[in-house]
Amino acid sequence: MSVAITLKSVPLFAHLAEHELRRVAELTRRRKYPKGSVILFEDDPGDALYVVVAGHVKVVLIGEDGREVILATLADGDFFGEMSLIDDEPRSAHVIAMESSDLLVLRRDDFQRCLDETPRIAIGLLRALTRRLRLADSKIGGLVLLDVTGRVARILLEMADENDGVVIQKKVTHHQIAQMIGSSRETVSRTMRTLAEENLIEMVGKTIKVRNRAAMEAAAGLR
Ligand code: CMP
Repeated sequence: MSVAITLKSVPLFAHLAEHELRRVAELTRRRKYPKGSVILFEDDPGDALYVVVAGHVKVVLIGEDGREVILATLADGDFFGEMSLIDDEPRSAHVIAMESSDLLVLRRDDFQRCLDETPRIAIGLLRALTRRLRLADSKIGGLVLLDVTGRVARILLEMADENDGVVIQKKVTHHQIAQMIGSSRETVSRTMRTLAEENLIEMVGKTIKVRNRAAMEAAAGLR
């Protein structure tokens, strides 16, 4: 598939005209990152923006004791690395490939050129950053206001809503859920077993389904 067609499916660029897409495509290069590789290191200077063409990456902070907090997971069509390009500060987090991932890389100067030539990209950027801020607000609210059951319910609903509202397609382990909600793997496993026993969710093999949305929303403090 040509890079311009790929870019058309990326919300940040989706509203650009064909010639604008071709221009952005000319400036990007494609790179594959194997599972587990660190794409960006926190505190490094920022030299490029990345778009996920295929794969799955996590944005993480790593404490001095080695504990990881997952701030977000990003997949096809998402982008990252824009913050350092916008404010000239060092990278705000590590970004690590959770599976073999195919990315488009746009160097800092070329990103600036794209913004100068096609200011409409800035609107897409603002929308995406606003969405991220909403998600971050919701996460902070959840961490302060909800117990572990509420936090697990909320993250499962968010992941189900990335698909059809029922089936969670993301391959996510209990350990990773724990890293997203500031809990331990054991507590998350116990909480999910209880949610399954109460028929709020169903776990068959590695697939998780939301069975009782109303009760899950109530647990997540959303009604
Ligand atoms: P930058 O700071 O350049 O490098 C790390 C990147 O992780 C950052 O840009 C964003 O693209 C991304 N990032 C940081 N925090 C979040 C978040 N809360 N949600 C999604 N992406 C984030």
